Amino acid sequence: MPEATPFLEVADLVAGYRRGLPILHGVSMHVSSGEIVTVIGPNGAGKSTLIKAVAGLVIVESGSITLGERSLLGTAPDRLGAFGLSYVPQTANIFTTLSVSQNLALAARRCRSEPEARIAAMFDLFPALAERRAVRGGGLSGGQRQVLAIAMALVAEPEIILMDEPTAGLSPKASQDVLDLVRKIAGEGVSVLLVEQNARMALGVSDRAYILADGQNQMDGPAGDILDDPAVGEIYLGGRRKGAA
Ligand SMILES: Nc1ncnc2c1ncn2[C@@H]1O[C@H](COP(=O)(O)OP(=O)(O)OP(=O)(O)O)[C@@H](O)[C@H]1O
Ligand SMILES: [Mg+2]
Repeated sequence: MPEATPFLEVADLVAGYRRGLPILHGVSMHVSSGEIVTVIGPNGAGKSTLIKAVAGLVIVESGSITLGERSLLGTAPDRLGAFGLSYVPQTANIFTTLSVSQNLALAARRCRSEPEARIAAMFDLFPALAERRAVRGGGLSGGQRQVLAIAMALVAEPEIILMDEPTAGLSPKASQDVLDLVRKIAGEGVSVLLVEQNARMALGVSDRAYILADGQNQMDGPAGDILDDPAVGEIYLGGRRKGAA
């Protein structure tokens, strides 16, 4: 099957937090429409930095980031929604003192269609959030918080969602629920760029994957191939083979 045209494309990206001290040393990757692409790699590899570069939150020294035909370089993070891109940060991704409804209303402020209708659509999609619409963010379980954070990203009708470790701190069951949700979102045609520590589980729902280490591409390919590669398992997946306890 020929590969679809890249939708998000990162090429030769040199980026970091201080000019002249890059964390990413020429990273390239792409996500096609409707694809789930996972980035894995050890702590400090630059995974979050890559996602933050796409979201306009770090200093890009050279290279390119394009979404469709458009360059994202120099785009203010609060303008990304207008380009069809939503970002779910690794931490602090909901307002704990606001109710579920208020969180969604805030996220829907800049959405491209009627906010009320979009919020209603989120409650249809996530009945557990609908039941808890009056509960404050801080009163939700870890899994429910992540679902709310994802709903806050989806409310804006993005074409691509960036998620930084959506399963961090969750139980295996809650993690699987979140990743099943990611699959469902992609099934509706939304592209997903996922960064995960929970590499085996993430690869299980992904189409393709990239391995980053030391701010550089180490390997990429179909998620199933990466999952089954013995060397990858040994180095990056904790040495456990598929099916092991
Ligand atoms: N705000 C920051 N300012 C300066 N350096 C930073 C900042 N955030 C991260 N770094 C550095 O950038 C490097 C890559 O960090 P990054 O957060 O991208 O790694 P990561 O692959 O997401 O790791 P983890 O798996 O721990 O989340 C690390 O050396 C880290 O210390
Ligand atoms: Mg990170």
